[in-house]
Amino acid sequence: MGLGTVGRAFLRALAENRDDIGRRLAEPLEVTRILVRDPARHPEERHRLTTDARDILDDPEISVVVEVMGGREPARTYMLEALRRGKSVVTANKEVLAYAGPELWAAAEAGQADLRFEASVGGGIPVVQGLTQGLAADRVRSVVGIVNGTTNYILTRMTDEGSSFEQALAAAQAAGYAEADPTDDLDGHDAARKIAILASIAFGAHVSPDDVAVEGIRHVTAEDIRYGQGQGWRLKVVASARLEADGLLLRVGPAFLPQDHPLAGVSGAYNAILVEGEPVGQVMFFGPGAGGGPTASAVLGDVIEIAWGRHQGVSAPRPVRYRPCPLKDPATDELAAYWRLDVVDRPGTLAQVAQALSEASVSLRSVEQRPKPDGRATLLLVTHRCREGALRQAVANTGRLPVVLSMGPPIRVEGVD
Ligand code: NAP
Ligand code: HSE
Repeated sequence: MGLGTVGRAFLRALAENRDDIGRRLAEPLEVTRILVRDPARHPEERHRLTTDARDILDDPEISVVVEVMGGREPARTYMLEALRRGKSVVTANKEVLAYAGPELWAAAEAGQADLRFEASVGGGIPVVQGLTQGLAADRVRSVVGIVNGTTNYILTRMTDEGSSFEQALAAAQAAGYAEADPTDDLDGHDAARKIAILASIAFGAHVSPDDVAVEGIRHVTAEDIRYGQGQGWRLKVVASARLEADGLLLRVGPAFLPQDHPLAGVSGAYNAILVEGEPVGQVMFFGPGAGGGPTASAVLGDVIEIAWGRHQGVSAPRPVRYRPCPLKDPATDELAAYWRLDVVDRPGTLAQVAQALSEASVSLRSVEQRPKPDGRATLLLVTHRCREGALRQAVANTGRLPVVLSMGPPIRVEGVD
């Protein structure tokens, strides 16, 4: 289902690796039907195209449905029906999986069919298998990663080449990394779905993307990035799930990382996921996080696993039993933050800003003032570590000052006290 960036790459990988796959499996894999919206766009595949999902769902010869259409509906409905009717499903669709995971697992159990979704997180990185199988014995404490290729590509181009945000986004879209609606990438929703999926696996709890505190990168400017570079920091969109004493803390947002942080050197459309658990310690999964080829590799790997399982007579899903897991309020978390304000450049401005922070019990670590035309100035502030709730109060206090013309949201800085 779907013949876009991923679907086309899947057919290519299947054709190119047919002999190797054939050697590993007892029966050949054959794609008999392909669902699209507009057949005129795919003349080379016209003999097996359909615009009617019933041609797949009602066909008893089809044992595996590969869903690479995207979007919540009708993908969810098709997957549920396929599973209930005993067809195994492989999907790259993090949106459906993150929101409808329990429903899909129930359908898989009812139909005794397999549900696999390696491609939904980290593109070609086998992180789902790594967590479900490789680290099955561990008590996971945290999963922290760069899980959106589009935003990592954009920030890398802005940092290394000085590209504008718009140029970098256009290049990411041309390369096939971005979602059909790039809002999902830019505003952090794609990463929120992925960290929700990883957290559900790692902590055995059903985590919804709505549980994740999300912030996007539209407000980030070249000046922010250059300032961070001057401090030895790299700006990344970090998705994290941490099990703390008072609950599970889930967030996605831009963060400055010190250059020696394991995630700081992850560039372009690459993704990396750092898992900390007992007894394993730290494990990092790294690889291409988006694009047709890497994603098709993960999808095809899942199909091969299912085909092998069927050959062995094992096609039932592992039962999923979620446990309750309280969520931690992000306002009680601590952070140091960088913050850019455009202000009126006149005596007393800095004192008013400092007062607004002080009233919220937020302490300044450093301040840099840069003169701008027309009697304005930019203040680049870095705070000491403080409660996120206190920082929000400082933002509210500062926003009320007439001398403050505009301000971006504070950006978390890791590795600073
Ligand atoms: P895409 O290029 O937009 O392709 C979507 C395909 O699905 C098109 O062939 C489209 O048909 C078909 N389609 C969409 N809605 C349909 C409907 N209602 N009925 C029938 N066909 C429909 O998308 P993509 O980039 O390949 O992504 C597919 C999925 O993989 C998404 O869930 C995405 O999040 C996920 N994913 C993508 C990447 C990546 O790097 N691209 C990586 C990991 C996961 P037409 O051709 O007729 O328009
Ligand atoms: N749009 C997604 C990204 C595709 O940029 O990471 C891979 O899931």
